[in-house]
Amino acid sequence: MPKDFLSVADWSADELLQMLARAQELRRLHRAGERPQTLQGRTLAMYFEKPSLRTHVTFEAGMAQLGGHAILLRPDQVGIGTRESPLDVARNLSRWVDGVMARTFSHDLVVQLAEHATIPIINGLTDLLHPCQAMADLQTIANVMEPREATLCYVGDGNNVANSLILLAAVLGMRLRVATPESHRPPAWVMEKAEPLAGESGAEIFWSEDPGEAVAGSDFVYTDTWTSMGQEDEAEARRKIFAPYQVNRDLLASAPQAKVMHCLPAHREEEITSELLDGERSLVYEQAENRLHAQKAILEWVMLPKGAQ
Ligand code: CP
Ligand code: NVA
Repeated sequence: MPKDFLSVADWSADELLQMLARAQELRRLHRAGERPQTLQGRTLAMYFEKPSLRTHVTFEAGMAQLGGHAILLRPDQVGIGTRESPLDVARNLSRWVDGVMARTFSHDLVVQLAEHATIPIINGLTDLLHPCQAMADLQTIANVMEPREATLCYVGDGNNVANSLILLAAVLGMRLRVATPESHRPPAWVMEKAEPLAGESGAEIFWSEDPGEAVAGSDFVYTDTWTSMGQEDEAEARRKIFAPYQVNRDLLASAPQAKVMHCLPAHREEEITSELLDGERSLVYEQAENRLHAQKAILEWVMLPKGAQ
């Protein structure tokens, strides 16, 4: 069993479902005003190379609510890879704190931190994956219907959020349709990783260049920004490429029951219309809330000895 939470594909369906069950329990307790102190005295270091609202607040608040504490590390202060090697940063942090949440450009950097640390490393988003988001999305879907009976459709850029949804679907045996331009398909390694997992779980993962084909009859239609953090120079070109992939009323005409999902931050009237984002079918603030609960479950999962959960 890995000590880290770098990718949902590192865990079995059973383990992900156990984390989901705990996230649901933590959501119920939180909403009842209860704050179980399961991580009392524990410290999480948080390292952000990219901006964040949701990930920062939910990890810091989550640690505090569980009786622990979080420290924010700034990249210009710590300088992993410039001031100090990943190896030394990982070895030092392992002597002081109980876990690290890192948001980095390079996925390889979180992998290196995990290799050298003796404490758990949690992936808070890299260029390749966003596994904590996928767990919150699983919880959000589960609150509407049984995830393995749902048809989820992702429309837009084949990015870190899409990659983690693909791996989640592959592990759990979900039905997922992905619609991206040919030029922005999810990377081959994600599909290669997903294929054998899907073979085992019975997941049905389908890609199309045609958003209309993918969306038809779906239960959930998910989109994300066309320009991820670090791609700002490409924003203008991307607006043109992705224009046919906007999630709007017309696109959803063939999925009348579909709920609308977005990890946020959203670029209103680009990848999604405000009408849908703010409408009755939107689950976006549920997703944002569930970051808190899902990540508390992940924090307990990696920080507490097995059997204490
Ligand atoms: N969805 C998400 O990860 O949001 P932040 O970038 O604000 O953390
Ligand atoms: N794909 C987006 C997700 C933001 C939470 C990005 O990487 O910027």
